[in-house]
Amino acid sequence: MTVNRDISVSKSWTPTSWRNHPIAQQPNWPDQAEYEAVLKEIARRPPLVFAGEIRTLRDQLAEVCAGRSFLLQGGDCVETFEAFTADNIRDKLKVLLQMAIVLTYGSKAPVLKVGRIAGQFAKPRSSETETIDGVTLESYRGPAANDLAFLPEARRPDPWRLLRVYDQSAATLNLVRAFTHGGFASLSQVHAWNREFVRRSPRGRDYERVATEIDNALGFARACGMPVDHSVTSQVELFTSHDALFLGYEEALTRADSLTGEYYDVSTHFPWIGERTRDPDGAHVHYFSGVGNPVGCKLGPGTTTDEVDALVARLNPGNDPGRLTFIVRMGKDRIDENLPPLVRHVRAKGHQVVWSCDPMHGNTFTAATGQKTRHWKDIVAEVRSFFAIHEQEGTHAGGVHIELTGEPVTECLGGAGNITESDLVTRYETACDPRLNNEQALELAFCLVDLLHV
Ligand code: PEP
Ligand code: CO
Repeated sequence: MTVNRDISVSKSWTPTSWRNHPIAQQPNWPDQAEYEAVLKEIARRPPLVFAGEIRTLRDQLAEVCAGRSFLLQGGDCVETFEAFTADNIRDKLKVLLQMAIVLTYGSKAPVLKVGRIAGQFAKPRSSETETIDGVTLESYRGPAANDLAFLPEARRPDPWRLLRVYDQSAATLNLVRAFTHGGFASLSQVHAWNREFVRRSPRGRDYERVATEIDNALGFARACGMPVDHSVTSQVELFTSHDALFLGYEEALTRADSLTGEYYDVSTHFPWIGERTRDPDGAHVHYFSGVGNPVGCKLGPGTTTDEVDALVARLNPGNDPGRLTFIVRMGKDRIDENLPPLVRHVRAKGHQVVWSCDPMHGNTFTAATGQKTRHWKDIVAEVRSFFAIHEQEGTHAGGVHIELTGEPVTECLGGAGNITESDLVTRYETACDPRLNNEQALELAFCLVDLLHV
């Protein structure tokens, strides 16, 4: 399906014009000349993704907008240089594929798969600095800027990290493309995506049942002479996304498409703007008003209808379905009060947006044992509210946005494995926010199937 792309980009927009707008959440690069030299180097490098792929994603998001498809977006809170291994990437892909298959099989609707992957290296922080025992250093802003260790040299932003981010993103994407197109993601492999430690869990057994039914259906179709050994069943499309926070990096990877002349951010298919950088007059919204990518924008509990109108006016003036996704992250205690007025307003105004639910970032708290965590039941509660609100308003609950990993970490509480506060220390590995582990993520997919049925 081709959609009308009337983005009336302001005449004053250029890939660098964001520099004239107030900007939040940027590292304090110590040497400006060195920083600009690194950006110049990145600007010479090949694109990570291609304009044609980005347009395909936009068309598929238009399907989500129309209520015909469901968006599954997930991955690490932040990718790190340390966890950069083939196994780690493969396991993340496995859990996304498992969730997608449960959702597709259960809901009988197409599932659009997007990873927080191959570029998710920059973090917004609630404070510019961190103070421990009287020592104040720059906050950790993700591996794209500095290191987590609380030492002056570790926290000093180093622009050469941006080049490493580009390289790691390229290698990650290369492996993802190989996995998704080289047979690993084939429907004939559904059993192989279940990992041993999950297989024995209640949800792992539910998954095995789904996988067996799919195997049987494929066997039956093949026996009847239907063409099941085809790219439709042997390949998967996984798009990439990240919080496009450091605009110098995004600018260096902004290119004019040779076919259409339109600008695209070729660092990722689907950039999003975070809760702390969505000022309608700020640099981030300005930058994304000028590129052809679909854009996500987080909406926290304090979002007003005027802000929504300003974001739509700047980011989707052509009212093009699939261009703009609102990712709601209000928290389970605030969503029931704060989301309905926004949904009603958007519907009344006729704004074409995808509504997605991030049930992670509004439900974070510090456990008595000191770790930042989230409870499984709070995450599910926010997702349930999100679906109920859309049901009530007659709008489409279009997707979910989840922090997860394929490893059996112990970062979020609860779930079928009943992780308790005293378990958190066992495998608490995230460099930023707590992620659902493989089993908890799969369990969420089964909960979503029930919700998609109502
Ligand atoms: C995130 O998605 O990791 C994040 C920081 O989100 P938000 O901007 O919603 O706080
Ligand atoms: Co996070």
